[in-house]
Amino acid sequence: MRGLETVRTDRLVGERLRAEHFDELHRLHQDHRVMATLAGVRSAAETRQMLRANLDHWERHGFGLWLFRDPADGRFVGRGGLRRVHVGGNDEVEVAYALAADSWGRGLATEIARASVAVGFERLGLPDLVCFTLTTNRASRRVMEKAGFGYERDIVHADLPHAFYRLTAAVWRERRAGEGDARRADA
Ligand SMILES: CC(C)(COP(=O)(O)OP(=O)(O)OC[C@H]1O[C@@H](n2cnc3c(N)ncnc32)[C@H](O)[C@@H]1OP(=O)(O)O)[C@@H](O)C(=O)NCCC(=O)NCCS
Repeated sequence: MRGLETVRTDRLVGERLRAEHFDELHRLHQDHRVMATLAGVRSAAETRQMLRANLDHWERHGFGLWLFRDPADGRFVGRGGLRRVHVGGNDEVEVAYALAADSWGRGLATEIARASVAVGFERLGLPDLVCFTLTTNRASRRVMEKAGFGYERDIVHADLPHAFYRLTAAVWRERRAGEGDARRADA
């Protein structure tokens, strides 16, 4: 899919994941605070394998994860985007995100999630998207809700209890149309 190499949010720019992003990802994956909700810190070999899998994903599907930066100074903010996964017994496309700890609490994960949703529905024409996280990850669950996802059920994923959320393109379009109507009524 052409044109998905970069993605913009209000405050960030996302670059298609590339091999030379290894050092930044490795630093993120070595941070205990970040990885506490993502199965623990990862070795260099684990990050290399994750990066390879995500580069393959882009090659195969034409979409995947982006690495997000602050466009003002190029500072690394985090990673996020869309990924095909087998979860909850089905093949799905998930919205994923993980931010460097010094970027938490500013609404940036929500921007990444919303931009990913827009790409999934507007550019890729997907019928629905899912999100899931440890049931105890309140911040991530809140991001999912703010991005429009609705709680569907609890599942066991990677042997751990996860809360599973879904958003359909139909619901997303309906809400967008409603927001447009409200904006016009305010004008
Ligand atoms: C989870 C994570 C992505 C959130 O990023 P973020 O940029 O801080 O998220 P946002 O600022 O967009 O939104 C966070 C929301 O959660 C809320 N929140 C934060 N900590 C919370 C907690 N302990 N309990 C309840 N709500 C919490 C915030 O108040 C905010 O909601 P609000 O806007 O209604 O006030 C980030 O902490 C992270 O990368 N964590 C490690 C990796 C991870 O868990 N990724 C998700 C895996 S599915």
